[in-house]
Amino acid sequence: MPVLYPHRPWPATPNGFMNVTIQRFDPRERSSTPFPDRVRILELELTPALAEWAETQAVLTPDEIARADRYAIERPRQQFLTVRTVLRLVLGARLGLAPQAVPLSVTPDGKPYLRDGADFHFNVSHTDGLGLIVTAPVPVGIDAEPLRPMPSADGLVERFFALAERVQYRQLPVEQKLPGFFKGWVCKEALLKGVGCGARGLEHCVMDMDPQTPARVLGLTGCAAAMGPHWSLQVWQPTERHLAALALQDHECISENRGLPSPVVCPHSPEERETSRGADQVA
Ligand SMILES: CC(C)(COP(=O)(O)OP(=O)(O)OC[C@H]1O[C@@H](n2cnc3c(N)ncnc32)[C@H](O)[C@@H]1OP(=O)(O)O)[C@@H](O)C(=O)NCCC(=O)NCCS
Repeated sequence: MPVLYPHRPWPATPNGFMNVTIQRFDPRERSSTPFPDRVRILELELTPALAEWAETQAVLTPDEIARADRYAIERPRQQFLTVRTVLRLVLGARLGLAPQAVPLSVTPDGKPYLRDGADFHFNVSHTDGLGLIVTAPVPVGIDAEPLRPMPSADGLVERFFALAERVQYRQLPVEQKLPGFFKGWVCKEALLKGVGCGARGLEHCVMDMDPQTPARVLGLTGCAAAMGPHWSLQVWQPTERHLAALALQDHECISENRGLPSPVVCPHSPEERETSRGADQVA
């Protein structure tokens, strides 16, 4: 495995940033209670053995099974199946429903949601052996990408990123371009998944592409602005091989009167980040 990031600018967990609980989760052990009373991220190691276990749970709906069967390649099929199974177990436990009865639906843009409404939000990502499931009291998006050499990075930025991102990326020193590319990519997708507009919003959100600075949103327009401008972002490395980002609607900043719990410190300034650092414990 090539060492792409000898300087390791990213933390191993997002806990220093806001009140996030993060845990390595093996659903076969069931030793924990992964309920979304606050922001909670479950990291799954997506192995063939876990996929076999997931199949034995038999909690997927016929539509989901048909969807899994449409994957032409076995590994992504298993990853979808495993993450969807664990998602159903987690949501079922939270809602007091059998996993098969969790009323999952999907928006026209592809965002899964709970049909009957719920007082929490969730999102998932699965890639290259890693699954992430996040639950939160506010809209949330999560994304992970495997870190790898990307000869096509410059071209992808020119094709898919917003003008301001392209300008910033072009000005990065050559050794910062690949970390900047991955940082921008995971932040963009996490944010777009939080808002729900998916790839439709690629050019409508501007992320800070500098890998040396804290992740932040620099601008939102069009569908990406549908839920307002206040989003917190954090990038971390759940494994040596993956970079991940969490996008969380900044509820303490905008919705003090909505009766939500108030665990999140708005991470707008370095001082505030510092104050919140260390306030959390890994569950
Ligand atoms: C969702 C999307 C934004 C990212 O998908 P991805 O990175 O390929 O895959 P991930 O595993 O991270 O995420 C997939 C999950 O996102 C969720 N998702 C899909 N569309 C979503 C949306 N509009 N909003 C929120 N979540 C969504 C689903 O739960 C999906 O998992 P599931 O199929 O098991 O239900 C996808 O729409 C996409 O098209 N990405 C590619 C965009 C692109 O070209 N980027 C290039 C930048 S260089």
